[in-house]
Amino acid sequence: MAKKLFIETLGCAMNVRDSEHMIAELNRDELYLLTKDAKEADLILINTCSVREKPVNKLFSEIGQFLKHKKHGAKIGVCGCTASHLGEEIFKRAPEVNFVLGARNVSKIREAVAKDRFLAININYDESAYAFGEFRQNPYKAYINISIGCDKKCAFCIVPHTRGEEISVPHELILSEVERAAKNGAKEIFLLGQNVNNYGRRLSGGGKNKFNFSQLLTHISKIDEIKRIRFTSPHPLHMDDEFLEVFSSNPKICKSMHMPLQSGSTDILKVMKRGYTKEWFLERAEKLRAMLPQASISTDIIVAFPGESERDFMDTVDVMEKVRFEQIFSFKYSARPLTTSAQMTNRVDDTIASMRLKILQDKHAAILDEMTPSYMDKIFEVYFEELRDNGLVAGRTSQNSTVCVKGGEELLGKIRNVKITQPQRLILYGQVV
Ligand code: 5AD
Ligand code: SF4
Repeated sequence: MAKKLFIETLGCAMNVRDSEHMIAELNRDELYLLTKDAKEADLILINTCSVREKPVNKLFSEIGQFLKHKKHGAKIGVCGCTASHLGEEIFKRAPEVNFVLGARNVSKIREAVAKDRFLAININYDESAYAFGEFRQNPYKAYINISIGCDKKCAFCIVPHTRGEEISVPHELILSEVERAAKNGAKEIFLLGQNVNNYGRRLSGGGKNKFNFSQLLTHISKIDEIKRIRFTSPHPLHMDDEFLEVFSSNPKICKSMHMPLQSGSTDILKVMKRGYTKEWFLERAEKLRAMLPQASISTDIIVAFPGESERDFMDTVDVMEKVRFEQIFSFKYSARPLTTSAQMTNRVDDTIASMRLKILQDKHAAILDEMTPSYMDKIFEVYFEELRDNGLVAGRTSQNSTVCVKGGEELLGKIRNVKITQPQRLILYGQVV
């Protein structure tokens, strides 16, 4: 009889892909059916994120809940980034946990389940060329890892300590994975890496790849069945002219660029070790807007990094108002273990931090309120990928806006022109034309 698997995936798209890899690996030996009810599961996996502080206690109280309600004999595994950095401590605080599997040790999932008290958290382990089994939650949009780890040492970021040094996946493997996904019905490819536009700098074993990121994009776009290519996250520092040129001119590359700003203050950017200035970021964003006025730009912003003054914060607001990002992901600074900024004593008071976050988000909402009505009556190409409640089906424009129309399964996996009849801040409602 098939076993049941409950898997909770927190964090970024990398984690989503790691969960898919784990599911595929588990299914090599025996069939696991996914369940949304942890109580009936034979295996419970928590795929954790550690980029911001979710009090560690919360993870342990969640484990406690699973332990209380789980089926007799069911196993529990803690995976992902928090597994990487807490390691043994998880067993100490929750001895009933059966295994701890780091974000860079996903290929060992079958071994972890087979043994008892299995621990693998080696962040130097190289699984960049490992041939994972096939499993995709969404057959229409295929996530594909192009690199693992990150060599940047941004002062606030724990990722280099949970996912190790940056290694690119050999391009032959990426291209064959794209072809496989295309055969299985994916028209859209979503390339993943911590720093995708640094692709090709180092292969496993220290070799250098034949392609850089721009060349990789060009090669993928030659595969007929693939109609759309997305990627995340690029680093503003590596947005050279060649990259912007390929991004703008290749019709298959979706016209939505993520440019993680983090801070608009050159002084703070320096302490963060981001490698660019406010002026450089603005110049790149303005160049992109000039080359491709229809492109959307999204960003990540951290407010209240240690030492951030009112003036520094106003620089961040200034960049936001100049670039007029279509989407922002904004966070209060959170001190993370193992990072250099965790040692800094000039912390910003939490009340001020909350205030700055609110100011930023309110100002961004105002930008969106100005932008949104302009979508009225516009026609966009939408790739439909998800059924929603109330007889709606959702898809995305090339610019990454979510569009909903009346319809059902017949639209899934299809690209259609949609006229927007009711634009809202987060969803554009429309009709297929
Ligand atoms: N505190 C707050 N936000 C953080 N991020 C990364 N580390 C931290 C931190 N210590 C944010 C960055 C990054 C996004 C994924 O999470 O903005 O781009
Ligand atoms: Fe993804 Fe970073 Fe969270 Fe790890 S810590 S899951 S890499 S966002």
